[in-house]
Amino acid sequence: MGTKETAVVLLAAGLGTRMNSILPKVLHPIAGRAMILQLLDSLTDIDPDRIVLVIGPDMGLVSDAIAAAGYDFEVVIQRDRLGTGHAVQQTEKVLSDFKGNVLVLYGDSPLITSKTLVKMLDARAIQRNPAVVVLGFRPFDAAEYGRLIVDNAGNLEAIVEAADASEDELSNDLCNSGVMVIDGTILFDLMSSLSNKNTKSEFYLTDIIKFSRQSGRDCGFVEGDEEELLGINSRAELALAETIIQDRLRESAMENGATLADPSSIYFAYDTKIGRDVTIGPNVFFGPGVEICDGAEVRAFCHIEGAFIENNAIIGPFARLRPGADIGEDVHIGNFVEIKNATLAAGVKANHLAYIGDTKVGKKANIGAGTITCNYDGYKKSMTEIGAGAFIGSNTALVAPVKVGQNSITGAGSVITKNVEDSALAITRVEQKVIKNYAERLKDAKVKK
Ligand code: UD1
Ligand code: CA
Repeated sequence: MGTKETAVVLLAAGLGTRMNSILPKVLHPIAGRAMILQLLDSLTDIDPDRIVLVIGPDMGLVSDAIAAAGYDFEVVIQRDRLGTGHAVQQTEKVLSDFKGNVLVLYGDSPLITSKTLVKMLDARAIQRNPAVVVLGFRPFDAAEYGRLIVDNAGNLEAIVEAADASEDELSNDLCNSGVMVIDGTILFDLMSSLSNKNTKSEFYLTDIIKFSRQSGRDCGFVEGDEEELLGINSRAELALAETIIQDRLRESAMENGATLADPSSIYFAYDTKIGRDVTIGPNVFFGPGVEICDGAEVRAFCHIEGAFIENNAIIGPFARLRPGADIGEDVHIGNFVEIKNATLAAGVKANHLAYIGDTKVGKKANIGAGTITCNYDGYKKSMTEIGAGAFIGSNTALVAPVKVGQNSITGAGSVITKNVEDSALAITRVEQKVIKNYAERLKDAKVKK
C-alpha cells in the first residue's frame, strides 16, 4: 500500500438539493447509521494519518455525528459551494505542508470497501509515480457521471463532466466514481489552475487530470464495481444503496453460519451480531445494537433493536424487543410480547401478549398471557422484580415499583400494588358470585311478557 502518509479529504458540503430534505444529505441513514459513518468505516484498512471533513457553514450536525462516533478529524468550512475543486481548495489551510497521498472521497458515495481503497493507494505507489489515480467504473446507467478519457495506451488523459461532454464522449461508459488519490506535493499547485468556465460554472476537481498531463505527469485509474460506487443524489438512489448494503449484510450473516429463511425479507443494521446456527424467519427487522448468540431462533415478523439474545432463546413470531432487552438462555418470547429495558434470566417464558418494561425476571419464571408491567405513572419510570420460578397469572397488572418473590403466584386478573413474599399467592380479584337459574328468569322477563 506504499509507505507514504495518507490524508483523507471527505467532501460533504454539497446541498443535496435532490434529496428534498432539511437533513444534510450525508446524514441520511443506510443500514441504521448516517451514510458518512458508513464511508468512514471503509477507512479501517488504510488507517489514515489525517481526516479532513469539508462541510458547509450550516452543517454542524455532520461534524457532531462524526465526533460522536469517536473519530479524530479536522473540519474545514466551505462557505460558498462552488464545486468539488473549490471544496478541495479550502483544505489548503490545513494540508499545505502535507506531502503524502491525499485520498478524496465524496460523502455521497458511501458504499466503497476498504479493499478497493487499498488498491487505489497501491496504484499510486507504482514506479511511474502517477500524479493522480482515479477510481473508474462502468455503471448500468452512466447518466450524469463524469467520463474518463483514456488514450490508446491506457493512460488517463482527462475527466469530462457529463454536462460538458460531446456525444462521442458520452457514449463512453467508463465513469468517474469521484474517488481519487492525489500526490500531496503538487495538489495545491494543480488546484491553483482550476477555472469555472464550464456549463455548470463550478470549479471541478476533475480538471486536475488535464493539468497533471499538461505538466508532464502521468495519471492512472483503477476500475471498481458499480455496487461500491453508487452516488446518492436522490431518495431513489438512497433506497438502492440500502438494498446493496442489506445484501452484503445478509451474505455475511449466512457466511458466519446463520440460516435466513428468506434473506431478502430480513433487514439488518450495520452492527447486527449473529452467532452460529442462529435461524431467522421471514420478515424480521433489526435496528442498531443487536447481538444474537449461537443457536437462537428469531421467528417471522419480529422487530428487534438494542437487544441481547443468549444461546438457544426463541423469539417470536410477532415479538418486539426494544433497547435494553436482555434475553437469557432458552428464554421463550412469543407473539405480541414487547420487552423494553428488562433482563430475563435463563428459561423464562413469556409466550403471549405481554408488556415487560423496566423489569428483572428471575430464572424459569412464567409470565402469563396479558401480563403488563405498569412501569410509568405519567411522571417517572419504576422497576418491577419477578423472582425465579414465579408464576404470573394471565392478565396480571404489576404496578411498579413492586417485587414478586421467588416461586410465588399471582392470580389471573390481579392488580399487584404491594410486594409479594416468596412462595405466596397474591390475588386481588373480587370473588365470583353465582345466581342460580338467573338465565331462565331473565328469559321469562324479556320474552314471555
Ligand atoms: C461528481 C464528479 C463526477 C462524478 C460524480 C460521482 C466533479 C466535478 N464531478 O459529480 O465526475 O462522476 O461526482 O458521483 O467532481 N461537494 C462539496 N462542495 C461543493 C460541491 C460538492 O463539498 O461545492 C461535495 C458534495 O457534498 C458531494 C461531492 O462533493 O459529497 C460530490 O458533489 P456532487 O455535486 O454530488 O457532484 P456530482 O455532480 O455528482
Ligand atoms: Ca453526487
